Amino acid sequence: MASQFSLLPAVATVLAATVLLCGTNGQLSSSFYSTTCPNVSTVVRTVIQRSLVADSRITASLIRLHFHDCFVNGCDGSILLDGNESEKGAAPNANSARGFDIVDNIKLEVEDVCKGVVSCADILALAAEASVSLSGGPSWNVLLGRRDGRTSNKEGAETNLPSPFATLNEIVQKFARVGLNINDVVALSGAHTFGRVQCRFINDRLYNFNNTGNPDPSLDPAYLVILRNTCPQNGSASNVANFDPATPNLFDNNYFSGLLKNQGLLPSDQVLLSMPGVVNHFAQNQTAFFESFAVAMINMGNINPLTGSSGEIRSNCRNPN
Ligand code: HEM
Repeated sequence: MASQFSLLPAVATVLAATVLLCGTNGQLSSSFYSTTCPNVSTVVRTVIQRSLVADSRITASLIRLHFHDCFVNGCDGSILLDGNESEKGAAPNANSARGFDIVDNIKLEVEDVCKGVVSCADILALAAEASVSLSGGPSWNVLLGRRDGRTSNKEGAETNLPSPFATLNEIVQKFARVGLNINDVVALSGAHTFGRVQCRFINDRLYNFNNTGNPDPSLDPAYLVILRNTCPQNGSASNVANFDPATPNLFDNNYFSGLLKNQGLLPSDQVLLSMPGVVNHFAQNQTAFFESFAVAMINMGNINPLTGSSGEIRSNCRNPN
């Protein structure tokens, strides 16, 4: 498997250079709002920066919203819609996805400076980039021009978003469905370098792996002790553990060094170890990870956008107009 990734840095660099130089991809363009809302990126970034004071996790939560948006009906802001049958109520999002109130604040401030111009889908794409760069990670030119969908697809969220208990094969298939490849899977999984996980997702690994009554033998024993402290047996399933015990709020390449130490938190993280070549590469070379991550984020942001006269520019991200 490792040899398949030997070209990864070169390919990623060429792709990144192409995207950065051209600034367009399909119908999206990095200069989409240059005349209609030139300060939109600054507004988005400033609101996030302010929110970070009260909530050090908000950056992680916001990038996850963009991921969960793009995998269901494309990047069309559908995750932001309220309603009984909306994506918000789907299993991967209910009591899990967060940051909706901050998206509302961003939208209000963007509407203040450019009324009716910027879509909620683009706000999520901008918020994802700002969140990563504010946390010490890479920056990239965000491609813009998405419009908002009018419907939300609860069932789609349940089918299309990967489960933390999925095999690598299943994860790769869910990414392939939206046009992303295995390089994207590995690079994007590196977003688990910041943010938190609820104990309910890891309790089995800590106490009853595969119904054995024992912990997952592949988990680093010293790390197991720390995690059991955060997630005591019969404790609250909604307690949270840091994805990265060393730098929980920083976007760095610790995720990959953690995997090599058997400290991957979710089963879906630990399965990446079956590709030690690329995991080693990213663990040793943060620049290579950052470049691949930026390319993969642009790829993810390009999933089925609504453009032109499709969809709408919602005035409130929670409701269609
Ligand atoms: C590969 C498949 C993936 C699976 C199975 C997965 C699963 C999960 C799960 C179960 C959580 C914890 C949620 C909770 O405790 O409520 C989580 C959190 C998170 N995920 Fe993923 N994820 C995947 C890929 C991604 C991708 C592609 C990104 C972004 C590019 C991402 C970014 C995050 C972040 C930043 C958090 C922390 C959120 C917070 O603290 O609020 N994940 N993920």
